[in-house]
Amino acid sequence: MRQRASQPLGISHALPVSGGALDECGPQQHFRGMTNVDHRPTAAPMDALWMPFTNNRAFKAAPRLLASAHGMYYRDQDGREILDGVSGLWCVNAGHGRAPITAAIQEAAATLDFAPPFQMGHPLAFALAEQLSTWLPPGIDRIFFTNSGSEAVDTALKMALAYHRAVGEPARVRFVGRLRGYHGVGFGGISVGGIAPNRDTFAAQLLPHIDHLAHTHDPSRNAFSRGRPAFGAEFADDLERIVREHGAHTIAAVIVEPVAGSTGVLIPPVGYLERLRALCDQYGILLIFDEVITGFGRTGAAFGATTFGVRPDMMTLAKGITNGAVPMGAVCVDRKIHDAVVDHAAPGIEFFHGYTYSGHPLAAAAGLATLRLYEDEGLLARAATTAPLLERAAHALRGQPYVVDIRNIGMVAAIELAPRPGAPTARAQEVFLECFRRGVLVRQTGDTVAIAPPLIVSEAQIEQIMGTVGEVLGRIA
Ligand SMILES: Cc1ncc(COP(=O)(O)O)c(C=O)c1O
Repeated sequence: MRQRASQPLGISHALPVSGGALDECGPQQHFRGMTNVDHRPTAAPMDALWMPFTNNRAFKAAPRLLASAHGMYYRDQDGREILDGVSGLWCVNAGHGRAPITAAIQEAAATLDFAPPFQMGHPLAFALAEQLSTWLPPGIDRIFFTNSGSEAVDTALKMALAYHRAVGEPARVRFVGRLRGYHGVGFGGISVGGIAPNRDTFAAQLLPHIDHLAHTHDPSRNAFSRGRPAFGAEFADDLERIVREHGAHTIAAVIVEPVAGSTGVLIPPVGYLERLRALCDQYGILLIFDEVITGFGRTGAAFGATTFGVRPDMMTLAKGITNGAVPMGAVCVDRKIHDAVVDHAAPGIEFFHGYTYSGHPLAAAAGLATLRLYEDEGLLARAATTAPLLERAAHALRGQPYVVDIRNIGMVAAIELAPRPGAPTARAQEVFLECFRRGVLVRQTGDTVAIAPPLIVSEAQIEQIMGTVGEVLGRIA
């Protein structure tokens, strides 16, 4: 090992945090119980870490380092409180440092650190799959674990191919995504995804046989909609164009996010998902909902499928499945898909796919504890009752400088800004940075500022998040 001139990060490991009930998540109490913790980096070298989806050079010139988290708050390396307006990265739906999840992870680590998932099993993974199946739309009750949303998406695409082969339609190899869609960063995910910068560098090696539906963002008709926009169900008919061009018999699956999150929170117009479902039924095409962001209360119910009353054939999940505490993803499929691939296969391994850490004991334990916490605290119901407060506070920003659209559903909202001439995305980036400086974490995506707080957020905290965004908008150029 090479010697380094400077010390490594001076981070000691946190002792388990105490508390975690909603009433303990206020700014005064939220670091109760954290003793002997010093997460402050000491002159840490930063060169070795190549950061994901980050402007590495700018970050390392002016780092933003988080040291601890509890309830609704992060604390940064200087001990400053940061109100979390985006659930970390759309994943910490029950708030940070929740004691039952921490305890479950600790117990799992002490009991069974690892179990091989190929040709072996362990009880927690089966228990989580059983439990999760009771949350899903009826009939979607076969679950395959992955470690991330990206892996869940690529797994789902493979399953779609395997299904069509199993039922005697091997010509169905084409996937249909949607412009502006985000489905993670695997080659499958970026191929069906529709965000140009995520694809451009890799364009020469994207999957073949991919098409994209038109996106649904139509501010000329729908700007400042509250909840589902009224206009745009007909965007689903774009699938007919692809069917005409290639023939339905070549199309394996359509994959969409019920609410497109990472591109800037695009809410499906009234009737759109229903129409997409009807067209997929008509043409024998599988419909995949990528619910990595929309799962676990974000849209005001368990899943986007629940909120919008449309049942897909497959769902991809991640993030909120473990409250962000341990990496995990899942593909949840209609039983007919599982049975076609598994029950009708020749003896032996039925599906040549899997990950060393599929259903890892720590992730499964975290998932079980998370589902229990969502239930015990009624967090999904709480999301539905808090949603109108978020809607009101978001739309109060209408009329602030540069605001060209505000969108919301459930516990997610977006403020879209006019791009600065010659410097698109710069305004929203400045809003993100200045909000952080003022102690509020929001997410910037393109020219949009996204807000998706943990479901435990209080009305006062919603006001603080939106109020800070509003103040900052008044100060940028
Ligand atoms: C809809 C959707 N799918 C997939 C992913 C990828 O998930 P991960 O970053 O866990 O790979 C994301 C991440 O934000 C997402 O929003």
